[in-house]
Amino acid sequence: MEIRFLLNGEAVALSNVAPTQTLLDWLRERRGLTGTKEGCNEGDCGACTVMVTDAAGARALNACILFLPQLHGRAVRTVEGIAGPDGQLHPVQQAMIDHHGSQCGFCTPGFVVSMAVAHLNGERDHETALAGNLCRCTGYAPILRAAEAAALQPVPEWMVSDAAWLIENGTPPLEAAPDSAEELAALYAARPEATLVAGATDVGLWVTKALRDPDPVIFLNRCEDLKGVQIGEHEVRIGAMTDMNIFGAAMEGLHPSYAAMIRRYASAQVRAAATVGGNIANGSPIGDNPPALIALGAVLHLRRGAERRALPLEAFFIDYGKQDRQPGEFVEAVSFPRQDDRLKCYKLSKRFDQDISAVCGCFNIRVEDGIVSSARIAFGGMAGIPKRAAHVESALLGQPWEVGTIRMAQAGFDADFAPMSDMRASAAYRLETARAMLERYFAEDQGEQVSVLEVSA
Ligand SMILES: Cc1cc2nc3c(=O)[nH]c(=O)nc-3n(C[C@H](O)[C@H](O)[C@H](O)COP(=O)(O)OP(=O)(O)OC[C@H]3O[C@@H](n4cnc5c(N)ncnc54)[C@H](O)[C@@H]3O)c2cc1C
Ligand code: FES
Ligand code: FES
Repeated sequence: MEIRFLLNGEAVALSNVAPTQTLLDWLRERRGLTGTKEGCNEGDCGACTVMVTDAAGARALNACILFLPQLHGRAVRTVEGIAGPDGQLHPVQQAMIDHHGSQCGFCTPGFVVSMAVAHLNGERDHETALAGNLCRCTGYAPILRAAEAAALQPVPEWMVSDAAWLIENGTPPLEAAPDSAEELAALYAARPEATLVAGATDVGLWVTKALRDPDPVIFLNRCEDLKGVQIGEHEVRIGAMTDMNIFGAAMEGLHPSYAAMIRRYASAQVRAAATVGGNIANGSPIGDNPPALIALGAVLHLRRGAERRALPLEAFFIDYGKQDRQPGEFVEAVSFPRQDDRLKCYKLSKRFDQDISAVCGCFNIRVEDGIVSSARIAFGGMAGIPKRAAHVESALLGQPWEVGTIRMAQAGFDADFAPMSDMRASAAYRLETARAMLERYFAEDQGEQVSVLEVSA
């Protein structure tokens, strides 16, 4: 396996590297590029942020949970490559100096790279772009002021040269990274024991935290035909390899509450890596997408070799750690019917940004002539799997859409869920919160102002 990519403007070809060698370790230990820092080594702090460019553009990613084969055919810039070839400072670097954006400096390389990517892409929502970068000592106000000041400066020419190299050089095939769903199907059917790697925001942690050494591995990031959201007249179909930033943007026009929840999914760096397929296939009971998709009536599309099958998404989750997926079978897509927007997603976590849900409740309730005509309600964080609130749904169905019905239906949560207590929330709090979320949905539907986000400013 020969992995080729562009590093700070210089072509690199690597053979004999372990497929789960992280970019961060390689940069620091093998390449001597120690500007990229190791903080948490699990995607949480952004100290290791690098810029990665491919045909889809430039994005900020966490190098600590990025494996070298995922870079094949892409271009990487570390903090050492953000300044110009003659040492000229990038506008974000100059602005960090001018606005006193650094004290101990440990977080600074990560901030500078995130800011340079946002600057390149013309992103002006600096709080969102920098939510995945933690600073312990400077405080965020000077850093945000620096980002605002730099946004007024033009993009330096060296920052756009990576894209030209990609177009000129193309990429030869890489054995462990199929180029299409067809190739993936054949390879995985032949090696069903392999670990699939999509965005590596879970698998990366198996390596860096659980010290596992998955082998063999198959990388999905070059399967372009598994990426993207198709919005048809009757159906929305999301390719398994669609990342959360792309998916969130697609949801804005269709289901804004879902898009708002995705904005709170981890951080810009993690959203640029994590895929919809990975968020389903990992079977996590606290993943944010499954409850929302189940509430929308989603269907999961699985493939093994040439065989395809489809099942309601909720049926995929059998039990904690157990999904309806055969060896050699992978998630190809998930789809849901086009529908008028009645979806509300309520993510409850201890922090606004970069936090896993304690409870995630998604409600999709339709009312005709004052009577509830359909109800799909699904929760994460309330059971060992993402699960529908079947008793609550049937208590609502056919009843008048009024506060008395809500009160009566709230009792159904006790029959639907027996949540656990853990560090995120107690069982009693989870149940209480779920009941409150139904009330909130009703209040919001009556036009009451229920958002609590104004306190976050
Ligand atoms: C800092 C941080 C914050 C996070 N915050 C959130 C959050 O707010 N909300 C949330 O829901 N999650 C969060 N996560 C969890 C993680 O982002 C998700 O579970 C993610 O969606 C996994 O997708 P991935 O593409 O990275 O999958 P990977 O890590 O590549 O794979 C995950 C699992 O799915 C399998 N897999 C991947 N793709 C397929 C496929 N197409 N077919 C079959 N199997 C497949 C892999 O083999 C593996 O078992 C966070 C993670 C980190 C590190
Ligand atoms: S070291 Fe913290 S995100 Fe990579
Ligand atoms: S300057 Fe010290 S952690 Fe940010």
